[in-house]
Amino acid sequence: MAILVTGGAGFIGSHLVERFLAESSEKIVCLDNYNDYYDPAIKRKNVTAFENNPQVTMVEETFCNQDAMHRLFEEQEIDEVFHFGAYAGVRPSIERPHLYEKANIEGTLCLLEAARAHPVERFVLASSSTVYGGGAEAPFREDASIGVPLSPYGASKRAAELMGLTYHALHEVPVVCLRPFSIYGPRLRPDLAMTIFTKAILDGKPLPLFGDGSIRRDFTFITDFCDGVLATRNCPEAIGQCINLGHNHPVEIRRLIEILEEALGVKAKIDYLDAVPGEMPVTHADLSKAERLLGYSPQFPLTEGVAEFVAWYRENC
Ligand SMILES: NC(=O)c1ccc[n+]([C@@H]2O[C@H](COP(=O)([O-])OP(=O)(O)OC[C@H]3O[C@@H](n4cnc5c(N)ncnc54)[C@H](O)[C@@H]3O)[C@@H](O)[C@H]2O)c1
Repeated sequence: MAILVTGGAGFIGSHLVERFLAESSEKIVCLDNYNDYYDPAIKRKNVTAFENNPQVTMVEETFCNQDAMHRLFEEQEIDEVFHFGAYAGVRPSIERPHLYEKANIEGTLCLLEAARAHPVERFVLASSSTVYGGGAEAPFREDASIGVPLSPYGASKRAAELMGLTYHALHEVPVVCLRPFSIYGPRLRPDLAMTIFTKAILDGKPLPLFGDGSIRRDFTFITDFCDGVLATRNCPEAIGQCINLGHNHPVEIRRLIEILEEALGVKAKIDYLDAVPGEMPVTHADLSKAERLLGYSPQFPLTEGVAEFVAWYRENC
C-alpha cells in the first residue's frame, strides 16, 4: 500500500512528502513531470531531501497519461491520493488557458479514473480559494453560493472539484476537495508576490506592485496548511466535502510589503503598475467547517511565517 503525492516536486507537494515521511511508515510515491512553468531546477532541488529515501518512489511522468496512471495505481498499490500537481498561477492562465484545462481538468480526470479502477481509501484534491470568484461574500463559506471564477485557473479548479464530487457521488471515490488560501513558506514558488518582492528588495530594485496594494490575501503558513491536509486521513466526514484551509486574517498587500521590509531590514522601492484583471480584491477563509471536521486551527501569525520564509530565502536563493 502506498500514498501518492502528485506535484511532489512542487512547493506544497514537497512539504507534504516530508510530513508523510515524518509521521508515517507507509511507502510514498512522489509523482511530478518537472514541467517548465517555473525553472525545473528548483523542483529538482525541492526533492533532494527525500529522493534517495528508500521509503519514497520517485516517478517522473504526467498524470495526463491515463494508461500510465492505471499502471502506477496497480503496480504501486496506491491507496491514498494527495493530488497537488497542477498549473497553479492565476495571471498566466489568462494567456495560456489550454495548459490549465489539460493539466488541471483532464489530468484530474485521469487520476479519478485510475482511482475508480483501483479503489483507494482517500482522494484529496487541491482546489483553490479562486473558485469563490467575483462577488463572493467574504469571509468565504463553503455553503454560500459562489461566484464565477475570475480566471481560467479558478475555472479549472472549480471544474476539477466538480469532477471529483461527481466521482464521489457516482463511483464512491472518497474525494475530499481542499481550498487553499495563499499558502507560503520555505520553497515558495518563484512566481508568487512574496518571492518576487523579497528578491526585488534584496537586489535593491523596485518591486512591481499591481494596483495600489489594497487587495487583501489570507496568507496561510505551509505548516498550518499541511496540518489540515493530513487531518483528512482520519476524517471520514470530510469525504464528499469542499473545505477551506486558510488563516482567517486577510492582510493588505501593502502591509505584506512592510512585514517583508521589517524581516529583511531593508526599505522597499515600489513600482506602481496598473491593476490586472483576474485578481480577486480579497480572499478570506471562513474556517468553521475546517475546525469542525478537521480540528484545523492555524497557529502561525504572518510575521512569524514571513521570518521563516525570509531565513530560508537568504540561505537558498
Ligand atoms: N501555493 C498556493 O498558495 C496555492 C493556493 C491555492 C491552491 N494551490 C494548489 O495547490 C497545489 C500545489 O501548488 P504549488 O504552489 O505547490 O504549485 P507548484 O507549481 O509548486 O507545484 C505543482 C507541481 O505539479 C507538477 N505538475 C504540473 N502538471 C503536472 C502533470 N501533468 N503531471 C505531473 N506533475 C505535474 C509541477 O511540475 C509542479 O512541481 C496546486 O494544485 C495549486 O493549484 C496552491
